[in-house]
Amino acid sequence: MDKKNLYISTIGCQMNVHDSEQMAALMEKEGYVCTDDVGQADLILLNTCSIREKAAQKVMSTLGRYRRLKTKKASLIIGVGGCVAQQLGERLLLKVPDLDLVFGTHNIHRLPEFISEIEKTGKKIVETSLSEKTPSLGILTPPRKSKVTAFVTIMQGCNNFCAYCVVPYLRGREESRPLEDILEEIAGLARSGVKEVTLLGQNVNSYGRSTKGATGFVELLSEIEKIEGIKRIRFTTSHPKDISDSLIEAFSQLGKLCKHIHLPVQSGSDRILSLMNRRYTKNDYLEKVEKLRRSCPEISISSDVIVGFPGETDGDFQETIDMMEEIRFDTLFSFKYSERQGTAALKMEGKVSEPLKKERLRILQSLQELHTLEKNKAMEGHIEQVLVEGFSKNCRSDVMGRTSTNKIVNFTGHGDLVGTIVPVRIKEAYLHSLRGEML
Ligand code: 5AD
Ligand code: SF4
Repeated sequence: MDKKNLYISTIGCQMNVHDSEQMAALMEKEGYVCTDDVGQADLILLNTCSIREKAAQKVMSTLGRYRRLKTKKASLIIGVGGCVAQQLGERLLLKVPDLDLVFGTHNIHRLPEFISEIEKTGKKIVETSLSEKTPSLGILTPPRKSKVTAFVTIMQGCNNFCAYCVVPYLRGREESRPLEDILEEIAGLARSGVKEVTLLGQNVNSYGRSTKGATGFVELLSEIEKIEGIKRIRFTTSHPKDISDSLIEAFSQLGKLCKHIHLPVQSGSDRILSLMNRRYTKNDYLEKVEKLRRSCPEISISSDVIVGFPGETDGDFQETIDMMEEIRFDTLFSFKYSERQGTAALKMEGKVSEPLKKERLRILQSLQELHTLEKNKAMEGHIEQVLVEGFSKNCRSDVMGRTSTNKIVNFTGHGDLVGTIVPVRIKEAYLHSLRGEML
């Protein structure tokens, strides 16, 4: 049998990146080989995101390019997975008739079955049921290449229904993966050489809450801490309302837990936070930040902010700016509010105009650049422990790695360093990375 080529394109978050890795692993078992050249593909899978309008639009333009390849190769199979597939289902086939497969967020494990059916019959398949108990959570995929870092899904779905967000509709209700499965997967990753795991979930702080008699998130972290070979643990994302004192303490007690937290705040105005259904106030958030910094003074904090949520006045926006000045995040991901079908915010009054959203975003991002640079500059002269992940993007005589605080460091070094933690003196700080010198 000739080998068949698989091309996967991923739009969206780390969760999607990880789902794509699972798709690749499943199809490799069926004899497919991954390629970076879409022109060579026999099967194209597009893993999609619909968190904001822009991501959803990107799906349509990307599909437009892929479908033209079918005119050259009639046997080419094109499948769409992820959030846009989940959201549109059959309707996606009407929009893009050359598609062969639309599979939802809970159907990844059935990919080999779908592809084999299409290969045999040529019939189109749409499967977006959310009813099954998230079986994709149970896929144990051995790492496909030797890697230093790996993602591990610990839960799926979300019960929070923030007023702007489609995730609860597209990823279903919160469901935690059994502790033993997670530990088994991580032990396997450690045996294959992985040194750092990033635990993934929409709201990892509520890990175990939806499972009867289950362990909580801090217990999970403590168990992972015991796994030999794993040197670092990260996790994302946390909801400020659910971050517990015991998790805050864990930053000072668990040696492998990296000193970084991504804690999306979304707004600094209590009125907007309430409209967003975030269920915390600005002061609650400030208190959590203070506790985190007391428990772990070096901790770096990153966050997400949405500007132009319906009803956001200049005063509300100013409160977000004031909060940023007070907290000084290490990094901030900021977005213009984007209307999503089915969400509560869609019907809210006081829509903010596009130019005003753009202006607010610009102000916020230029302030954040100052803060990020200030934080990075403060590291100049410090000695940091860096886990080397691979070669630098632009220079093969340089390697790149991360500090425990999640800052990217480039320095001159040999490929042998990959997978080790080395002391590096920070010489020069930039906006997106640091330049260092190995000691
Ligand atoms: N519009 C803009 N940003 C959004 N996010 C989620 N939904 C929307 C939306 N409708 C942002 C939030 C979230 C991040 C992953 O994406 O800030 O934390
Ligand atoms: Fe969306 Fe809110 Fe759930 Fe995060 S916590 S996935 S923003 S609904």
